[in-house]
Amino acid sequence: MSVPLSILILKSISDLRKHVSAVRQPLHKVALVPTMGALHAGHIELVKQGLTLGAHVIVSIFINPLQFAAGEDLSKYPRTFNADQAKLIDAGAHAIYFPDVNEMYPPGFDVTILPGSVARVGLEDACRPTHFQGVTTIVAKLFMQSGADYAVFGKKDFQQLQVVTHMARDLNMPIEIIPVTTLREKDGLAMSSRNIYLNSEERAKASLLYQTLSHAAQSIRQGQPVESVLKYAVKNLSDYGFEVGYFEVRNANTLEKPIDKNERPIRLLAAVKIGTTRLIDNIGI
Ligand code: PAF
Repeated sequence: MSVPLSILILKSISDLRKHVSAVRQPLHKVALVPTMGALHAGHIELVKQGLTLGAHVIVSIFINPLQFAAGEDLSKYPRTFNADQAKLIDAGAHAIYFPDVNEMYPPGFDVTILPGSVARVGLEDACRPTHFQGVTTIVAKLFMQSGADYAVFGKKDFQQLQVVTHMARDLNMPIEIIPVTTLREKDGLAMSSRNIYLNSEERAKASLLYQTLSHAAQSIRQGQPVESVLKYAVKNLSDYGFEVGYFEVRNANTLEKPIDKNERPIRLLAAVKIGTTRLIDNIGI
């Protein structure tokens, strides 16, 4: 099959809606892949998942100012539209939704969505208290604007996946959230748009996060006491020069701390800083 040389780029809500009504048929569903661009193989995996569902795949690229607090990396967040476009053509995505800030947040914009308790559990929210309200607001807008049948999210941002899943469930949004397994570099580092911030020394060390998570998960599966496993993991990462934000075991659905040791499903979630770059990752137990 020949690869198309271009891809449809939709810049306004009305063009997106017209496009979706034109392509949607009872047996032809629409999948939305929400992104902030700087696409890597992990994003392409989300596109492939949408294609595997037999859907018409629309990838949104929008760097959402509402989910960045003052002092975070909004202004230096990588902007690589031409390269993103080429990757999406190659991957077989059908269209790109690329609105500007004014289209998303016109003057007078005033309503936001308050996420549920899963956004207040002391993980990402502890150091980014306004982040998830920005995420739920933009994701709800993207769902309403596109009217997509599916929305595809990676499990790397596991708390985000749960926040969005709970929002769609509790607000009866007519969309199915499709979670996709994290894609990793050969050494285990989870793919992320922020990995490009790592210098070569930091990059060489960065895979220790996943290795430590895997080792800790294995120890918990083998019945070792959770508290000592977590303590050892934090010490190990600190000894290698990581600043550990959290390294915790949580209920995989509520993200609360498990009440007893037999509670399942549970998941290990971690955030570390290496140099100036923050890395997050997680693993099921
Ligand atoms: O995961 C991301 O890239 C963003 O948080 C998302 C879901 C596209 C919302 O801006």
